Amino acid sequence: MTDIPENTPDDPSEDPSGFQPPELRFFGRRKGPSLSDRKQSLIDDLLPTISVPVDGADSGEGRAIDLDGLFKGKAQRYWLEIGFGKGEHLAWQAQKNPDIGLIGCEPYLNGVAGLLSFIDDEAINNIRIYGDDARHVLKALPDASLERVFLIHPDPWPKRRHARRRFINPPNLDQIARVLTDGGEFRVGTDHPIYREWTALQMSLRDDFVWLAEGPADWQARPDDWPETRYEAKALEGKATYFRYRRAAR
Ligand SMILES: C[S@@+](CC[C@H](N)C(=O)[O-])C[C@H]1O[C@@H](n2cnc3c(N)ncnc32)[C@H](O)[C@@H]1O
Repeated sequence: MTDIPENTPDDPSEDPSGFQPPELRFFGRRKGPSLSDRKQSLIDDLLPTISVPVDGADSGEGRAIDLDGLFKGKAQRYWLEIGFGKGEHLAWQAQKNPDIGLIGCEPYLNGVAGLLSFIDDEAINNIRIYGDDARHVLKALPDASLERVFLIHPDPWPKRRHARRRFINPPNLDQIARVLTDGGEFRVGTDHPIYREWTALQMSLRDDFVWLAEGPADWQARPDDWPETRYEAKALEGKATYFRYRRAAR
């Protein structure tokens, strides 16, 4: 692991966890260039048929999501991807694991439209989409309902004043721990040195996750079932870290 640079917000000497309460707003982009006619019609017509209903979850009063109903009884095991971008990783996992029901959350409309095109072209039927903040879905998921949660290249927010926006933070980790089954897996990929240190630190403070690494190869080499995303391919740092954590038994 790289050393934590001095005088950054991630210097653990400032605070045992380096943690400040998270910001609950979403700070990323929701819209990019205008959509093609085809993508707009997929947003209008296909998305409503595969979207995840989350009533009032942002007020903390969400009704629990009925996963069996959402996947029409065709899946018994469920995975979640937070911030799927254009959806390459989610689509790859869905095609390789047709018996799993996958939920993807992404507030960036153009990313959602890109994934919808792929779903339509490839006739993928085991993906459901929430086109907004994954925190709403996490709150509305039943306890111990997911076998895997993926957080692939989250926005690093490397500046000190933005550290509160990082998705890895104690309240979000509490929710991820709550929705994972015992023995379930939480995967985090990042190419950013500050986010790498931040993730390692935040996760090391928890007793509900166990790091599945016995040596550097376990976090430096991409597992065979972890495809490269467009973001990773363009990543400036070149080297990604592949964190895998097991949800400890309750
Ligand atoms: C750096 S991009 C990586 C995208 C993709 N995972 C990849 O590797 O290509 C981070 C993504 O996370 C999304 N994101 C940020 N905050 C989120 C949140 N609270 N819920 C869901 N997605 C979020 C952003 O919209 C963005 O698409």
